[in-house]
Amino acid sequence: MKLTSRSVSLVPIMATALAAALGAVLVVSAPANAATTLGAAAAQSGRYFGTAVAAGRLSDQTYVNILNTEFNMVTAENEMKWDATEPNRGQFNYSGGDRILNQAVGNGSRVRGHALLWHQQEPGWARSMEGSSLRQAMINHVTQVATHYRGKIYAWDVVNEAFADGGSGGRRDSNLQRTGNDWIEAAFRAARAADPAAKLCYNDYNTDGINPKSTGIYNMVRDFKARGVPIDCVGFQSHLTNNAPSDYRANLQRFADLGVEVQITELDIAGSNQANAYRDVTNACMAIRACTGITVWGIRDTDSWRTGENPLLFTGSGAKKPAYNAVLDALNAGGPGPTTTTTTTSNNPGPGGCTASVSLNQWNDGFVASVKVTAGSSALRGWRVTATLSNGTVTSSWSSNRSGNSGAVTFTNVDYNGSVPAGGSTEFGFQGTGSGAGLNPSCTAT
Ligand code: G3I
Repeated sequence: MKLTSRSVSLVPIMATALAAALGAVLVVSAPANAATTLGAAAAQSGRYFGTAVAAGRLSDQTYVNILNTEFNMVTAENEMKWDATEPNRGQFNYSGGDRILNQAVGNGSRVRGHALLWHQQEPGWARSMEGSSLRQAMINHVTQVATHYRGKIYAWDVVNEAFADGGSGGRRDSNLQRTGNDWIEAAFRAARAADPAAKLCYNDYNTDGINPKSTGIYNMVRDFKARGVPIDCVGFQSHLTNNAPSDYRANLQRFADLGVEVQITELDIAGSNQANAYRDVTNACMAIRACTGITVWGIRDTDSWRTGENPLLFTGSGAKKPAYNAVLDALNAGGPGPTTTTTTTSNNPGPGGCTASVSLNQWNDGFVASVKVTAGSSALRGWRVTATLSNGTVTSSWSSNRSGNSGAVTFTNVDYNGSVPAGGSTEFGFQGTGSGAGLNPSCTAT
């Protein structure tokens, strides 16, 4: 039914009458409009449902039929990795990655880029490098690949699996790590410069519960947010057996509370409890507004890297498994996804002035606000932004000095982002509890 302004006003009355007539039936019945594919079911709450795709399987009609019907996000399983895209130094090959991207876009799907830097699947020439020459080569790789795909990638796994397993909570040793501990932030900055529209993610495994490894990553993300290193999302691979950890949801939530999106990026689950575990993982994502989507690591069991473990949603012949139905039902029943609204207030736009705009990600009881400060026709040497919180409280902020946490809250530049060239811009952010509606930021040059 198309809702007009007149019919909207009748909806509550009709719904109440219907509820009275049907009584308890309404409570127990599945939604009449339940979606019948994974992608459509996820889209109802603004999320996606994706899969890893191997270019070599795109000539398999059963595979392609399921891919086109069920999924609305695609990750190249191997074809955008370093060894595939830069097999020789300075010689780039995008044939496999482009094939997957074009197939996905032709089918109306978006694409997650995987992965710009990873200690595995480095090409041979890079494996034998170290120090400043490797640093230069790896940043060039990030820049070249992100530039090739500029504007076409929803989110990049900028860095994959850089943390050590076990109890240290520290970085994994690798030739990338030995170029200096700042290699991860250097990669994120290079990716942002090359493709400002792509969300930039850190991606890892064995990070599905609260443990020393996930806490090490949590601390890195918190530090990046505090220092203004561009990071938008954290990927949780979720290669699981039998169960998700009992604190899976709590772990996702603590990352979301840092002001990043969380995404389940390589889900596959082996073992006899498979359907229940898939349901639990899907429910965990649906319960967190900042959880924007789920990707499974392959389509049929025979497509999986976990040979013989049958960890996926379709059998080798392409039939839906009980785990498929568990996921579909959980997606159809799921809670609201992220809502982003943007409001802009301009003032002092002339010489010496600035404007501020805010992009707000609001969920039930909290929000993240990203504020962009843009210089007028003269360069800024410093700025001050005032935003009004009538029903919310700021709990943390980054890339600015803050005064106050409710009512009129003032943010001023920090040492590294006060100078903004004429017409240029810089960003800071804050998060809080309650509502971030009506912030109406105003900017003053100082
Ligand atoms: O391309 C060569 C081919 O030329 C050769 O004939 C063939 C012989 O074995 O190997 C082919 O390369 C293989 C490649 O997959 C493509 O099929 C590699 O040997 C094999 O190691 C590689 O495995 C991939 C693995 O990453 C590499 O570590 C898996 O397909 C892929 O599913 C897996 O994905 C990773 C994620 O990227 C990161 N997280 C973990 C996940 C599972 O390991």
